[in-house]
Amino acid sequence: MTQFDVVDHPNPTPAERIAEVLQNPGFGTNFSDRTAVVDWTADAGWHNARIEPYGPISLDPAASVLHYAQEIFEGMKAYRHADGSIYTFRPEANAARMNKSARRLALPEMDQELFLASLEQLVAVDRDWVPSGEGEALYLRPFMFATEAFLGVRPAKEVSYRVIASPAGNYFGGELKPVRIWVSRDYSRAAPGGTGDAKTGGNYAASLAPQQQAIEKGCDQVLFLDPLHDNAIEELGGMNVFLVTNDGRLLTPQLTGTILEGVTRSSVIQLAQDRGLRVEERRITLEEWDRGVSDGTITEVFACGTAAVITPIGELVDGEKTIASTGTGEVTQAIREELLGIQTGTVEDRHGWLHKLA
Ligand code: COI
Repeated sequence: MTQFDVVDHPNPTPAERIAEVLQNPGFGTNFSDRTAVVDWTADAGWHNARIEPYGPISLDPAASVLHYAQEIFEGMKAYRHADGSIYTFRPEANAARMNKSARRLALPEMDQELFLASLEQLVAVDRDWVPSGEGEALYLRPFMFATEAFLGVRPAKEVSYRVIASPAGNYFGGELKPVRIWVSRDYSRAAPGGTGDAKTGGNYAASLAPQQQAIEKGCDQVLFLDPLHDNAIEELGGMNVFLVTNDGRLLTPQLTGTILEGVTRSSVIQLAQDRGLRVEERRITLEEWDRGVSDGTITEVFACGTAAVITPIGELVDGEKTIASTGTGEVTQAIREELLGIQTGTVEDRHGWLHKLA
């Protein structure tokens, strides 16, 4: 396995401060002491793998990521099990997706071995940062960006890959409760042939103005529609969507190239099939959602993602109209508990999804 050089940390965070952070991790505001770094150049390929103290990055102002957004990322979590060991979930899927994103953004691909080594060796030294509360984990954020100082528009010949780690609780803050979703009618997230199925910062940048509208309307997240037909649902700003029916089906928009293939999405599909639900990946219109909720055939709706895990959707606001679903339904609750149970080692990992980090 690739060995990362561990650079000495001059002043690691004292145990009392880590304990304080882990008391109430929130999402994305606190970071562990170290970061994994690997450099890439067109001539030398991937090299200089190291674990450095976490801190600001020095970048040339002409670095192409700052101008043309040549960047991709992943989102994963490290879970503390009862015996103190630390696992992550389906990292091979993230490695494969990062390479798919890399191909779309003309960034270099990375061997799964190096990707896994970066996670293992970072978490080995920062293991004290993994929380153990219900629904909590150390969020791992691998990312890759173009560092070459060049203003011509072409793939950069110098790239940096990093992993940072952030103790995480509920993505939406506070206790788990149904969220309110705003239907974006003014903006779409992605179009056929675009970057919708790549995990790249630009997709999230494009979601910010609609997300702002959602907040102004008292909602937590935005729902994007099919950019061509305007009545089928696609995904939320950073999560996939599922609907549960009263006759044992689970519906989710099919992957068209404009939707991100979530690792949690694939896992929910598998767990639902395991419990006998019939999964339909297909076009789902807003009319079907509305009608189903009104006539009782759609009983639950939820969002899922690495950061959000499984979060029930309470209300969908489409302009002046609101479609109100039930709170946290039984199927949502059961799949959430099973998924979290597998991740945290209290439910059998029958699909071999766990990967030991430390
Ligand atoms: C994740 O669920 O890991 C995501 O990437 C969504 C978001 C926080 C950007």
